[in-house]
Amino acid sequence: MIHAVIGYGRLARALVPALRAAGEVVVVGRRSPGAGELLPADAARAADWVWLTVPDDRIAATAAALPWRAGQLALHCSGATSLAALAPAPEAAGFHPLKLLAGDAGLAGVHVGIEADAAFRPALQELAQVLGLVPLVLPSPMTEHARAAYHAAANLAASGVLAVLAEALALWEAAGLAPADGLPALTPLSRGALDTALARGLAGAVSGPIARGDAGVLTRHLQALATAGLDADLLLALARRQLALAEAAGRLDAAQSCALRASLAGQ
Ligand SMILES: NC(=O)c1ccc[n+]([C@@H]2O[C@H](COP(=O)([O-])OP(=O)(O)OC[C@H]3O[C@@H](n4cnc5c(N)ncnc54)[C@H](OP(=O)(O)O)[C@@H]3O)[C@@H](O)[C@H]2O)c1
Repeated sequence: MIHAVIGYGRLARALVPALRAAGEVVVVGRRSPGAGELLPADAARAADWVWLTVPDDRIAATAAALPWRAGQLALHCSGATSLAALAPAPEAAGFHPLKLLAGDAGLAGVHVGIEADAAFRPALQELAQVLGLVPLVLPSPMTEHARAAYHAAANLAASGVLAVLAEALALWEAAGLAPADGLPALTPLSRGALDTALARGLAGAVSGPIARGDAGVLTRHLQALATAGLDADLLLALARRQLALAEAAGRLDAAQSCALRASLAGQ
């Protein structure tokens, strides 16, 4: 079987070497092909499976411009995009690695959402396993509500964490500490929390003043935000979620929960 990968961006730069390493034949289709590469239409003509690894809002137009023939399978890697975007192709499937790819890391060990009908599901699950991915079979067809929730979950787990770190860095700088030290000092804390969460679950991993029932420290954190001229919305929303986790873990008695809720309500 021959794969065409159309659009050689961050996802393709992880997918193509992985496919080749697994012994699959891959042609790369690009708008401006380099040595050993083809134009998208020529790559698609040569292939059985055609991967559209272009920006999400270009998937439908790219699919519409390709010369399809019976038996070909079109795939996209966008957790946010319906298979309807691949409508001009005879068959369509989704294969979404749940990883933020920036061109410097492979796919091994990553979960991959697979959206396909019964005819192609087994082959895609098998491919996922061959590539060292963990197949995650999604409902097919997937409702738009479910798709949006699935994609929002993935985005929150990746870029949402970056937004939290941006807030942490703003506080770091408000403390008068060197900005260059911020990320190297703070990201091991994130990593440690994530590793613990994977081992013990979120409630089992939550720590810090809220998990200890220390309302005084929480109040001082909120005052620090105000002094720095920073909006308290994000910290308050995160504090409420931490409180729920700490309560679920049985870490707080009624008086501690009450004092923490009073600190949060005081804002
Ligand atoms: N990056 C990730 O972390 C990640 C993770 C999971 C899923 N995905 C999905 O993978 C797909 C590709 O994402 P990506 O991050 O690899 O994007 P990307 O780095 O922006 O690369 C997309 C590629 O598409 C081509 N392209 C750019 N603009 C185009 C246009 N206007 N019309 C047609 N082709 C165009 C370019 O390739 P050529 O110059 O070779 O033509 C470009 O390198 C998306 O559906 C995304 O949701 C990405």
